[in-house]
Amino acid sequence: MTAADGVRSLAGRAVVVTGGGTGIGRAAAHAFADEGARVLVVGRGAARLAETAHGRPGIHPCVADVGAADGPARIVEAALSALGGLDVLVNNAVTMRSAPLGAIARENTHEQVATNLLAPLFLTQEALPPLEAAKGTVLNVTTAGNQRGWPGHSVYGATKAALDFLTRTWALELAPRGIRVAAVAPGPVETPIGEHAGLDAEGVARLRERQRRRVPLGRVGQPEEIAWWLVNLARPEASYATGLVLPVDGGAGVVF
Ligand SMILES: NC(=O)c1ccc[n+]([C@@H]2O[C@H](COP(=O)([O-])OP(=O)(O)OC[C@H]3O[C@@H](n4cnc5c(N)ncnc54)[C@H](OP(=O)(O)O)[C@@H]3O)[C@@H](O)[C@H]2O)c1
Repeated sequence: MTAADGVRSLAGRAVVVTGGGTGIGRAAAHAFADEGARVLVVGRGAARLAETAHGRPGIHPCVADVGAADGPARIVEAALSALGGLDVLVNNAVTMRSAPLGAIARENTHEQVATNLLAPLFLTQEALPPLEAAKGTVLNVTTAGNQRGWPGHSVYGATKAALDFLTRTWALELAPRGIRVAAVAPGPVETPIGEHAGLDAEGVARLRERQRRRVPLGRVGQPEEIAWWLVNLARPEASYATGLVLPVDGGAGVVF
């Protein structure tokens, strides 16, 4: 394959991005679509998805709750009907709720586990037949932060650490079927995740400043800087990469 072929190596591929209405999911949907891929963006908010799809006819919105019992089947059905197949599944949707041990509520713990852990599990399981037919790729978005403690975020971090483990295990289970599995583990990235977690503007600013000081590159990342890795891990040229959890964190993970 020449470099010129490689530039458009995702053209025509069918990609599902969960949580595609905002943040990293939106940037990933745009990046895949700009490579000529057809993309199904999944989220609960129709308006957010429509904004992601605006001006890009290759992006198809799919309103669904990834954590609902019928979510995975509905999403795979929508992908097959809108895209005609499934080459790349990006498990990106997230719910983050902050509480220290002693104040953790059962209801939002279930919600975090359902969205961040069970949804990737059952969606990937549901997607196996088309992924196997396509010799496809599963990309999980986890977090670089789950290698350390993060007060107030034990449940969120635990779901992401578990997703790292699923990534490595599925890579072994699915290699004989021709499916690659990898994770991208972002450091702090400028998205509405803080607002979605219930922080006010001041809380978000404080969090971002604290994160900025801890990152060797001296800044919070942009969603496009994560999307680039998702796109490139999905390329056929990345065919020897499976089972990896790739930190993209401005160097935060190697600070002594
Ligand atoms: N931003 C960071 O600093 C950072 C750092 C490390 C890792 N990450 C990871 O990056 C990924 C993307 O996060 P982000 O920062 O882009 O956050 P975000 O902007 O809050 O995006 C999360 C998306 O998930 C969707 N979502 C939530 N629950 C859902 C459900 N039940 N069903 C379907 N969609 C659902 C939300 O849309 P609706 O509410 O409309 O459904 C939203 O668009 C996450 O996996 C996160 O853990 C982010």
